[in-house]
Amino acid sequence: MTGAWVSRAVATAVELGVLDRLGEGPADTGSLAEGLGLHPDRLDRLLRLLAAVGVVRERDGRHEPTRVGSHLRRGHPSGMAELALLYDSDMFGDSWEHLADAVRTGRTAFGEAHGTDVFSYLERHPRDAELYTAGMAAGGRFSTHIPDVYDFGGVRTVVDLGGGAGELLAAVLAAAPGAHGVLVERPAALAAARERLGAFADAGRCDLVEADFREGVPEGADVYLLSRVLHNWSDEDARGLLRHCRRSMAPGGRVLVAERILPDEGRPWLSLVLDVHMMVMTPGAERTERGYEELLRSAGLTTREILDLPLEMRLLVAGPVPQP
Ligand SMILES: C[S@@+](CC[C@H](N)C(=O)[O-])C[C@H]1O[C@@H](n2cnc3c(N)ncnc32)[C@H](O)[C@@H]1O
Repeated sequence: MTGAWVSRAVATAVELGVLDRLGEGPADTGSLAEGLGLHPDRLDRLLRLLAAVGVVRERDGRHEPTRVGSHLRRGHPSGMAELALLYDSDMFGDSWEHLADAVRTGRTAFGEAHGTDVFSYLERHPRDAELYTAGMAAGGRFSTHIPDVYDFGGVRTVVDLGGGAGELLAAVLAAAPGAHGVLVERPAALAAARERLGAFADAGRCDLVEADFREGVPEGADVYLLSRVLHNWSDEDARGLLRHCRRSMAPGGRVLVAERILPDEGRPWLSLVLDVHMMVMTPGAERTERGYEELLRSAGLTTREILDLPLEMRLLVAGPVPQP
């Protein structure tokens, strides 16, 4: 019952700059409070909880971040501070307030809270969009492992649909020097992607395309990447997107779907909590292995193999349904 309060305490420490300041060196409560303009007793109590959950520790009367806490410094390459702020944001929190409405009515809680869908909202709220894209990139560290488990050798063109900040495409292009990449995104995510993929774009190895993948996908790729995209969409929209891929792919092409796959029984629980988060935020859902296979089949595709990735992620490798 108290999990949400612990998350809020961690995000508050990030927001107040406590972990940034402690990242510069150990400090006692008094000087930390003075430097940050905070109330010393209140700060001390916050730090006591953060110590209990392993974010900071006290030595000789001075506080310092633990290894976990050091990741919560803003701008740390892990992006965990941005992830903490995203998960604590009003954009998410106000939506979760409407979970009961979503369960009652079948509508999306995000829509009840914000009066629109999440991706249209992000187009109109650039600061939230920046946080969302940074948070997604932080939660997407699994993607750099995809070239370890899937061989991109011989692949000429890779299209990353809804590729976010470009972390995955950068990893693929680094692992497959002969490949050309295309990232398809909405405008809100393209600035971050331009930064991440700039060097590949300058070398002529990558294009960034502002487009709506529901209307079509670039023609003739060997591989279409869909990382944490299908779970945002209803079966109907997800099928439409997969059909675009099926129609457009080069002979022998593949669609790689990276998702958390729902277990048949109650574990692992991360996919279950994210499934409810999908219900809050989008018309989408986390799906079981069978759910993905049915969806793929309805688009003329089938699962060829399923590979394990870190963070409870799996990679479904799909190809055209073999003709009899
Ligand atoms: C959950 S994020 C996943 C990002 C990235 N693939 C990853 O795994 O970190 C979904 C992405 O889909 C993009 N997106 C949503 N609707 C889109 C559309 N209609 N056309 C293109 N991209 C879209 C969003 O901007 C967002 O970056």
